[in-house]
Amino acid sequence: MNSILNKEVQEYINANLTVDLHSLLLKKSHFVEVSMQDIVQQIKGKKVAKKKFPYLLKDGIVFPPNLNLEQASSQATAEFKAKNLTGNSFIDLTTGFGIDAYFLSKNFKEVTLVEQNSELFEIVKHNWKILSRNAIFLNDNLEDFLQCNEKTFDLIYLDPARRDEHKNKKFLLEDLSPNLLEVQDELLKISEQIIIKLSPLIDISYLISTLKNIAEIQIIAIRNEVKELLVFITSKKCNANTNITCVNLESDDLPFSFIYGNEKSAASEFSEVLQYLYIPNNSVLKSGGFNSISELFNVKKLHPNSHFYTSDYLLEHFPGRILKVEIIDAKRVKKDEKFNIISKNYPLTPEEIKKKYKISDGGNAYLIFTQTKKAKVILRSY
Ligand SMILES: C[S@@+](CC[C@H](N)C(=O)[O-])C[C@H]1O[C@@H](n2cnc3c(N)ncnc32)[C@H](O)[C@@H]1O
Repeated sequence: MNSILNKEVQEYINANLTVDLHSLLLKKSHFVEVSMQDIVQQIKGKKVAKKKFPYLLKDGIVFPPNLNLEQASSQATAEFKAKNLTGNSFIDLTTGFGIDAYFLSKNFKEVTLVEQNSELFEIVKHNWKILSRNAIFLNDNLEDFLQCNEKTFDLIYLDPARRDEHKNKKFLLEDLSPNLLEVQDELLKISEQIIIKLSPLIDISYLISTLKNIAEIQIIAIRNEVKELLVFITSKKCNANTNITCVNLESDDLPFSFIYGNEKSAASEFSEVLQYLYIPNNSVLKSGGFNSISELFNVKKLHPNSHFYTSDYLLEHFPGRILKVEIIDAKRVKKDEKFNIISKNYPLTPEEIKKKYKISDGGNAYLIFTQTKKAKVILRSY
């Protein structure tokens, strides 16, 4: 790592940030102790950092291999997660590249970072020094750490690795590293609050039936792309009262919350198309709170098999897309017009619709192909 920090090497890296990396890899390194592969890795790191964690665009920061960059959280989600977290002692048991740890631990007096990967561990230790942040660094695996540890912590954070040694993505809890099912009891003995980051592909009902003491699950999207599930475990809560919160960062959508156990007893009413159509954002769709959102906003569903809602008056705080619509006859879909096409619970795909009506993508207006309980409908936004 020291040779990569050499002044000339750093100057070479900074001078080649926009160069094609494939051709750079074919060149011979000018530096005895640093390969061209190492140089390219640092350039890649800086490129990723520009979008994903701009706070690391600083002189002296070292970047790890691609897999660690990919596995790291973004600054945007880490900053969101860090809100309202404060206390005396924080521990990240799967530090990785330390993006989450850096933001989540900002308002804690004592920070402990555990990471089993030695190369990554050294990089994080170095970077935290550059960033003037203190921590107790433990190059250990969580299981060994738990065996020797006698301390308690105000907050434990875990972001288990989701790829196995063959780099396949994993979604079951027992396939993650560490295996949460094996360690959850141990963790509850040393902290009253545990936050676990999980893949957005994990099923929420599976989580609730598998993990203990879930107080809240947050579904975090950025610009309508669901990025992560955050599970808040406390030693005081039971799963029936789990709160589900749906967040869509970098959008105008307000968070939407409901109690998981109430979703079954909540009911959606159905209606034919009224003046406004509501399409929940992807964070709400992931949550499965389809009846809860209908009850809370007093919007009616168009059909049991689609999650389109309608009302006669504008509910501007609905978390998702809101369109003022009218039903149009198929004959009124003019050829060669441009529309954004949405097809849900309708026999034709958007591609087939475009072909059939000779329309192309684009413009500001939407054409929505769907059905109510009575009939198929085509809606045009205006
Ligand atoms: C998804 S990454 C964490 C990324 C991190 N949250 C960030 O923002 O950079 C998971 C990390 O957990 C580490 N890990 C996996 N199993 C572990 C274990 N049993 N003990 C300690 N660390 C472990 C991996 O080496 C990997 O670096």
